[in-house]
Amino acid sequence: MSNAQQPTDPVKKGLEGVVAGSTAISDVDGQQCQLIYRGYNIDELVGKASYEEVSYLLFYGKLPTRSQLAEWTRQLDGGRTVDPHVLDILKQLPIHAPSMALLRTMVSVIGCDDPQAEDEALESIQKKAIRLTAQTVTLVAAIGRLRENNTPLPPKPGLSHAANFLYMLHGEEPVPVLAKALDAYFVLLADHGFNASTFTARTVTGTKSDYYSAVTAAIGSLKGPLHGAANRKAMEMLEEIGTPEQVEPYVQRTLADHKRFMGFGHRVYKGADPRAKHLKDIAKSLGTTNETKWFVISEKLQDAVWNAKQLYINVDFYSASLLHYLGIPTELFTAMFACARMAGWSAHILEQWADNRLIRPLSQYTGPRGLKFVPLSERT
Ligand code: CMC
Repeated sequence: MSNAQQPTDPVKKGLEGVVAGSTAISDVDGQQCQLIYRGYNIDELVGKASYEEVSYLLFYGKLPTRSQLAEWTRQLDGGRTVDPHVLDILKQLPIHAPSMALLRTMVSVIGCDDPQAEDEALESIQKKAIRLTAQTVTLVAAIGRLRENNTPLPPKPGLSHAANFLYMLHGEEPVPVLAKALDAYFVLLADHGFNASTFTARTVTGTKSDYYSAVTAAIGSLKGPLHGAANRKAMEMLEEIGTPEQVEPYVQRTLADHKRFMGFGHRVYKGADPRAKHLKDIAKSLGTTNETKWFVISEKLQDAVWNAKQLYINVDFYSASLLHYLGIPTELFTAMFACARMAGWSAHILEQWADNRLIRPLSQYTGPRGLKFVPLSERT
């Protein structure tokens, strides 16, 4: 006998406050404004652990030992190359389509190309997950280069995940400070509880569909401006503002038009997003050797929106200036979010798969009932 909720229970619009499952991967503590990965507060990890270590932590529940990290890095290095015939398919797509649409399509292509795609063994899903986590930076860099009429570059073994991305995008090895900044960004965005895209991935996995279908759906979910595309929208907002003097008029205009400030507000955190302060520090340090203007505008906007509406910044706000300072085109920003989140999505897909039950909530029907069929010839 099922103890399922009855349709008469009150609807929680947007599933606000609903606990939809359990996970040991990460905890988003809205009251304390903390983000925990497998027991570690992100404040403890950022700047100390690399994305390689954190992705291992998310997958396996423990930080790797030296030899485990060496083996994990070897696997990521080995997986990062994208087959030339897959890249040929990317070249045939309309390259100025949104980069998230291209990435979504390419994950699907890689799924079609993988003879093991339908293999349901956990170890097989794990292998696919490691490979795709590694390959995503290669795909996104290739999309970035093709959009600028440049030839995609293969990854360089021995470079870190973050350094490899910057190398493949810009065609030269980054100075350590830039690779470290992107590495911290990847660490901070690697996972975040049952956010919309992760929940999407888990829902698809819940039907026992394949790994690639779950990731493809997650990318589609992250693409939305209320979720991952807020980083791109935040940069466009900074560009629209243009100068520090224009911050206040912009805020007044946005309030008058009842529009949203991108990179502000959060469903779960009742105070500051714990990732935002780290991203702000990194953006500030990159700004001092770069165009300070974007950081100055951001800080002024943060204060002005707080004074006007008491809204906290979220992860996407300072991600915008940080990614811009790394020379990443604005159009690629959400795909950068996907590069980071690939480890989290994968860990959640594996966790869901290992202890699955179909995710199938109820809905409250608000339409009419009891209508009688009217033949086509009699309908008005
Ligand atoms: N700018 C202006 N008003 C806002 C904002 C904002 N950024 N965020 C919330 N509000 C207001 C909203 O207008 C509403 O006011 P009212 O009740 O008067 O209409 C109230 O706050 C509650 O908004 P809501 O949409 O019901 O809240 P939510 O919990 O469903 O939304 C959110 C959360 C993140 C979608 C929302 O804050 C938002 O739209 N922010 C801008 C987009 C953004 O930055 N998204 C990134 C989210 S964090 C990273 C991620 O998950 O990807």
